[in-house]
Amino acid sequence: MMQTEILLPDAAGVARAAAILRQGGLVALPTETVYGLGGDARSDAAVARIFAAKDRPRFNPLIVHVPDLAAAEMLAIFDARARALAGAFWPGPLTMVLPLRKGTGLSDLVTAGLPTVAVRVPAHPLAQHVLRDYGGPLAAPSANPSGRISPTRAEHVLDGLADRIDAVLDAGPCAVGIESTILGLVGRAVLLRPGGIPAEVLEQALGQALHAVGDTEKPSAPGQMASHYAPQAPLRMNATEAEPDEVLIGFGTVKGELTLSATGDMVEAAAGLFQTLRDADRRAGRSGRIAVAPIPETGLGRAINDRLRRAAAPRKSG
Ligand code: TXA
Ligand code: MG
Repeated sequence: MMQTEILLPDAAGVARAAAILRQGGLVALPTETVYGLGGDARSDAAVARIFAAKDRPRFNPLIVHVPDLAAAEMLAIFDARARALAGAFWPGPLTMVLPLRKGTGLSDLVTAGLPTVAVRVPAHPLAQHVLRDYGGPLAAPSANPSGRISPTRAEHVLDGLADRIDAVLDAGPCAVGIESTILGLVGRAVLLRPGGIPAEVLEQALGQALHAVGDTEKPSAPGQMASHYAPQAPLRMNATEAEPDEVLIGFGTVKGELTLSATGDMVEAAAGLFQTLRDADRRAGRSGRIAVAPIPETGLGRAINDRLRRAAAPRKSG
């Protein structure tokens, strides 16, 4: 197929990325969370290409990335809560699901036909530069084949999507390392996906507890499906010792062959999570398994455990 261009994180790389996007092509871009696979959110053809490159089910809507709140307000209807959170956490790893405005020109494929839209303002300076140069809304799911481990480096993007996308803008590793927190704000405030901003921090800002995902909010979305973020090797959580065929990923006082953070630092653990899962998968080989030390269920630990639970879940074939 096409040969994927590797773009440098300089002015020429940004200009090339923006030009490809304006032509309806696909560019994997660094964000502070994970690399995103960007395409023109107004183009059915570009968005269809995103779904095809990732092998992603069509009923799973995409996050739309914009450079600032003003651009987000052209797509979604903000209430006082949403505006306050945007003021506090944008740019940054917060995605809000809000009522979709009419006549935005967004492709129906982006929202999967829902009356809502997920919007996010990324903080990564290169994502910001590309968004401003390109000048439109960008649909960008994580730049990995659907169901596999999310990419936190350009090499991870190429591992999964080489020759299926036009370009990748290589800016090294992502600082946060775990996807954005997704907050539903259509009616009550619902935590749709734990992520880079701890739920407690959002609760503090909102002055109220977040609701768990209920049946009415539940879209049939891979990020919310049981098996996701999956390495090849089976994975076991809450392990304090390795069994003979296991590669143990440690945390804090649980020492492993690898570790998420020897000092028990949650920020370090989140930043290295997906790279460490890839390393463990390689070490486990064809017949081995992965075991992971217990991670506290607080702060970023909630997002880390969410990803580990999905990686540990029974796999659906295909
Ligand atoms: O950090 C991130 O959020 C990264 C970077 C690239 O921005 N993006 C990302 O996208 O994680 P993706 O597609 O892998 O996950 C997006 C999640 C999916 O689970 C999808 O179902 C959900 O957002 N989503 C999108 N639109 C939605 C909507 N209208 N209602 C409910 N969930 C929605
Ligand atoms: Mg994803």
